[in-house]
Amino acid sequence: MTDNAARPRLIIEFETERLRMRQWRESDLAPFFALACDPQVMEFLLPLATRADSDAMVERIRTRIAGNGWGFWAVEHKACGEFMGFTGLNSPLADLPFSPCVEIGWRFARKWWGQGFASEAARGALQVGFEKLGLAKIVAFTAWNNTRSAAVMERIGMKEDVAGAFDHPLVPDGHPLRRHRLYRIQR
Ligand SMILES: CC(C)(COP(=O)(O)OP(=O)(O)OC[C@H]1O[C@@H](n2cnc3c(N)ncnc32)[C@H](O)[C@@H]1OP(=O)(O)O)[C@@H](O)C(=O)NCCC(=O)NCCS
Repeated sequence: MTDNAARPRLIIEFETERLRMRQWRESDLAPFFALACDPQVMEFLLPLATRADSDAMVERIRTRIAGNGWGFWAVEHKACGEFMGFTGLNSPLADLPFSPCVEIGWRFARKWWGQGFASEAARGALQVGFEKLGLAKIVAFTAWNNTRSAAVMERIGMKEDVAGAFDHPLVPDGHPLRRHRLYRIQR
């Protein structure tokens, strides 16, 4: 389950009732940067200040999907074909108190909020993680006050590990987003 660009795996892509979860495309770059420019989307995330920063993040995600076969998939609305954001699984590179681990995460453009899309995508990703990848457990974490994200964690059946709350090492000391809640789910 590590990056291995030399031995590309078969890429797992899948559909849920309303969504297509797939490898990223060139045409996703502009709408993904639009998310980075929306202060409500970025309220609890570290900024992606420029288009280059945003594109670099997509490239890192794309490379990990190509190497591992899974990752933070681009989410597309099946009926209209629009790029909506991402949801998926990731082995964090940061040294977290519970590393090594596989996390589940999500980010959607605001127009898609409040319709159950993040939870639908996340349930699909959990199913891949447990049934196809054979993971025993998956974690999720979010900045302390990101109640919308924590609500997705609870909706998909994750339980908060209250004692596991931690300061994210990639968030600067004293930054308001440093403190994180931790959630867990077992197969
Ligand atoms: C976190 C985020 C993905 C949550 O999105 P969301 O749309 O609130 O989450 P869900 O997909 O679970 O949708 C739940 C909402 O849809 C409603 N809903 C409508 N139709 C629904 C359906 N068919 N099924 C389920 N829920 C439905 C629910 O009632 C709920 O509404 P509420 O917000 O008024 O309580 C979104 O806010 C986001 O992208 N935030 C910015 C990025 C971010 O912070 N990412 C997380 C970093 S840790």
